[in-house]
Amino acid sequence: MTACGDSNTLRKSDSQAAKMDMIRETHFDNIGSLKVGKVRDIYVQPERLILVATDRHSSFDRIIAHIPDKGAVLNLSSAFWFRQTADIVPNHVIAVPDPNITVARRVTPLAVEAVVRGYLTGTTSTAIWTRYQNGERDFGGLTLPGGLQKNSKLSHPIFDPTTKEDAHDRTLSIEALVAEGFIAADLLTKVRDTALALFARGQQIAAQHGLILVDTKYEFGVDKDGTLLLIDEIHTPDSSRYWQAASYAARLAAGEEPDYFDKEFLRLWFRDHCDPYKDAVLPEAPAELVTELSRRYIALYQQLTGEAFVLDRSVPPLERMAQALKPFEH
Ligand SMILES: Nc1ncnc2c1ncn2[C@@H]1O[C@H](COP(=O)(O)OP(=O)(O)O)[C@@H](O)[C@H]1O
Ligand SMILES: [Mg+2]
Repeated sequence: MTACGDSNTLRKSDSQAAKMDMIRETHFDNIGSLKVGKVRDIYVQPERLILVATDRHSSFDRIIAHIPDKGAVLNLSSAFWFRQTADIVPNHVIAVPDPNITVARRVTPLAVEAVVRGYLTGTTSTAIWTRYQNGERDFGGLTLPGGLQKNSKLSHPIFDPTTKEDAHDRTLSIEALVAEGFIAADLLTKVRDTALALFARGQQIAAQHGLILVDTKYEFGVDKDGTLLLIDEIHTPDSSRYWQAASYAARLAAGEEPDYFDKEFLRLWFRDHCDPYKDAVLPEAPAELVTELSRRYIALYQQLTGEAFVLDRSVPPLERMAQALKPFEH
């Protein structure tokens, strides 16, 4: 264990963060067996999943902080988008009985993640900009010319699926996914068409609110009858990239990065104040950074939905959720 950071600052932020009513972990009885995800606590029933979005924030493959209201923002963002896209494909939502909870139909998840990209961007090894810089030119039916600028718009959005694997997701062509037995060809075609239709709807609604939906990832499942369902989460700031539309063109022309939803500053603080890959215990993030990230999540939610973010704070969140879950005991 390494001692990281300045202990005086840490103490102060410790006590401030403790005052906020955050959802760190849950242990509800009689609603199914608990599977703890990185961000969500998932209670598994034979036919349903109870997805509880906590305020946990992960980076470096671990929890680095708790962000007030983040769980509710993520869950309500998904709920908004599931409603806005229900005419395109049926989804797993049975009920949203609480801002932090979705009760979902439990189906068999497909072994692929449906990534859709509208812009030449990203920094990870699977990102399209990284691959483009490495000389790749063919991306799911789109052949790009050389000399394109980072963050430029693709002539049309592309379907760029990955495998869903424990170790690391891999980008594979449609042909390779089918050849390697991840999914049947006709089902994958349906997934592609549906993902592109969802993305078009997402871009259209985002644009109405001054945002660009840049790229995203969908998960699908099939029920007992073989019907395709949209599952997991949709168009949340965790599964998608958003840019501000108003400043995009000018910033691109000036060679600047678009105005994006930036949560990197918290990650950087940890990188600069400890070794998040090695240290057993991490320092507490400064309260002002945590508050700022919370503010950004809420601001994006409000811009996207055009609705105020209101949460009933008269009851402690764990009590509020326990009450909301009563009808879903089994
Ligand atoms: N309706 C559903 N039916 C079956 N599995 C689902 C459904 N919705 C989501 N899942 C699965 O639940 C899992 C969520 O776990 P995980 O992604 O680790 O949680 P988190 O995103 O909270 O860290 C994913 O594997 C996802 O495919
Ligand atoms: Mg997930």
